[in-house]
Amino acid sequence: MGKLIVVSNRVGPLKDTGKAGGLAVALVDVLRERGGVWFGWSGQVSEEGTFGEMKRQKSRNVELATVDMNKADYEEFYAGYANRTLWPILHYRLDLAEFDRPYEQGYRRVNERFATRLKPLIEPGDVVWVHDYHFFTLAGQLRAMGVECRIGFFLHIPFPSPDIITALPRHTALVRSMLAYDVIGFQSNRDRNHFIEYLIQEAGGERVGEDRVRAFGREVVVKAFPIGIDAEGFSQFPKSPEGRRQSQRIKAILGDRAQIVGVDRVDYSKGIPHRFRAFERLLEDYPENRGRVSLLQVAPPSRSELDAYVDIQRELEHLAGQINGRFADVDWTPIRFIMRGFPRKALAGLYRSSRIALVTPLRDGMNLVAKEYVAAQDPEDPGVLVLSRFAGAAEELNESVIVNPYDTEEVAGSLQMALQMPLDERKSRYEAMFNKIVTNDAKRWAESFLSYLSG
Ligand code: G6P
Repeated sequence: MGKLIVVSNRVGPLKDTGKAGGLAVALVDVLRERGGVWFGWSGQVSEEGTFGEMKRQKSRNVELATVDMNKADYEEFYAGYANRTLWPILHYRLDLAEFDRPYEQGYRRVNERFATRLKPLIEPGDVVWVHDYHFFTLAGQLRAMGVECRIGFFLHIPFPSPDIITALPRHTALVRSMLAYDVIGFQSNRDRNHFIEYLIQEAGGERVGEDRVRAFGREVVVKAFPIGIDAEGFSQFPKSPEGRRQSQRIKAILGDRAQIVGVDRVDYSKGIPHRFRAFERLLEDYPENRGRVSLLQVAPPSRSELDAYVDIQRELEHLAGQINGRFADVDWTPIRFIMRGFPRKALAGLYRSSRIALVTPLRDGMNLVAKEYVAAQDPEDPGVLVLSRFAGAAEELNESVIVNPYDTEEVAGSLQMALQMPLDERKSRYEAMFNKIVTNDAKRWAESFLSYLSG
């Protein structure tokens, strides 16, 4: 068996810095398990960009191989096409999407340059597994350079219905290049079905089996592989010294009050303002919770050079200030809004000391916070997961309390129900979800994808 080469825009860190997004967290576990090379962007911008020296760093069985980007690449590819065009469209936010030819050209250029640097790392028998919306066109570029090995693609974020994706200028060219992959994986059946619908409606494609489609003269596997976490490992984190320390700090300030927790990168797709308003509504509609229930929102800033991200950050600061001003008392702050990340063991402690996790994305590929919250619970006294129907995780975690994040009144009512939920119901919901999370963990996700990729 050849080696596994994983490609993603962000590479590492292999150690927990508290800054990693869901993608990085999932891939560390997979690579540690199987070993291989992880190729992508160094996170640095330099004059030589992708033409500069490749940085190689080996840690046990995993080698990180990274290249820089130049300023134009960063602006047009990363900040431009990836995050001003594709990210909003794939999250159903046509109102925020910006289309600009140089962005698109930058995207193709960086995919080509990354393919050029990646090609010499590929040896006969290797398999290449490419991740996320930054690299839709990478396999097409590799194939044009004569690379014949198996290449798979996994999309960590949603794939919207054809109605939305067709708003992207030259969408056909983008989707056609995806067909250069051998296996295309999605987080949920909903996303997978959207992709198949697109191929049938827009590209004369046809289904040739449960998981196979033919389009643009190619036949490929198209399948949902819902991503998992290292559930056994994460379930131990609350008992680690760091996990315990965080739980104790929280318990010391809460006393017999309850806490609702939210953890997200500051991003407009996460529905954080909707969450704040729902919490405000809880205090309005069920006043017995005033002084008794608080919301802890952990929100590390993200992509702060983009206007849409600056706007959402300001909106959140403003909203938290307004709600706190309206309801706070000398000994109680309704919303604690912390704009930084926490190491994962500390997070596990926060999760365990929270009666409810409120996960309200307006669209999300999967949402690993939902799974981590469940994994971190005390089996004898578990908390309640309140989860948006628009998160991929809702397809799997149907024992959570499912809500429509746009319906403030409904979310407030669900929070009240969750606060009053009897222990036996909390336990039975938790047990059903924990079993699924442990069974469909990160290892199984990777093995399943790689078994299709190995052909
Ligand atoms: C999401 C995406 C990842 C991305 C991460 C952090 O999880 O699916 O591809 O790396 O957000 O975003 P950033 O733009 O900082 O890499």
